[in-house]
Amino acid sequence: ELIHVDGMQVVRLSNAEASAEVYLYGAHVTSYVRRGVPKLFLSDLAALDGSAPIRGGIPVCFPQFGKRGPMAVQHGFARRVVWELGGALDAATPSVVLRLPPGEHADWDYRLGCLLKVALEVDGTLVCHMTVHNEESERACSFSTALHAYFCTPDIEKTRISGLQGTTYIDQLAGGAVVEEYPDKVEFLSEVDRIYSGVPSKIMIECGDNLVSELELETFCDAIVWNPHVEKSRGMADLPDDAWKGFVCVEPAVAVQPVVLGAGEHWAAILRIR
Ligand code: BG6
Repeated sequence: ELIHVDGMQVVRLSNAEASAEVYLYGAHVTSYVRRGVPKLFLSDLAALDGSAPIRGGIPVCFPQFGKRGPMAVQHGFARRVVWELGGALDAATPSVVLRLPPGEHADWDYRLGCLLKVALEVDGTLVCHMTVHNEESERACSFSTALHAYFCTPDIEKTRISGLQGTTYIDQLAGGAVVEEYPDKVEFLSEVDRIYSGVPSKIMIECGDNLVSELELETFCDAIVWNPHVEKSRGMADLPDDAWKGFVCVEPAVAVQPVVLGAGEHWAAILRIR
């Protein structure tokens, strides 16, 4: 169902197991609740009026992750524009298809179509299915992307990410140095901002002995793991000072090597969360 919240268009999806909310602004999933448990963090100070990217939920970074590409704007323009509904909403299947609108953007001169389908499976799993189409008639085009998911966690100090064993990472806090050390699990004792490359298809977020959330990836071959910790949070106007204790970002991506699409070619990737 399409509703209006403070002048913004929001799609609500629900079935017996789960519910989700998707803002057309940014094609941004702001809420996902499964079996009564909120899975995604949304900042109490997030701008929800379209004036700035939404802090929390699942921002879509496209056609560039971070500053890794030709654009000056961090994470690309997709999270800053209102997407279009890509078809009629059907209450029987809790899903919505959103289409990135055509438009002019600084440092960007390609016709690259992007669709995001957000759906709930019968068991309440959230599925984000992203497809990209190079609509140029002659030119190849490259892009990078991430589904910048903010996961709730009860206590960041007891939070561990597993499934990344054996993958190297680029440390964004050390000028992009490549780190080859393979601890069992990633911990958050200070700010963490890493791009893991060549990641497996399953990544788990644990807190103490509990599994908090599980991600399943198709095509996405990298994953950013980020938590701002004390200092960086203080500099972020749209994040309460102590909110970093309650979330971790695990972001399925293609960020280390861009995707290169020949004229007319398609690319597709899937993230499942449960
Ligand atoms: C992460 C980056 O993906 O996003 C971090 O690795 C960045 O470096 C973070 O700080 C948040 O970015 P933004 O633009 O939403 O503040």
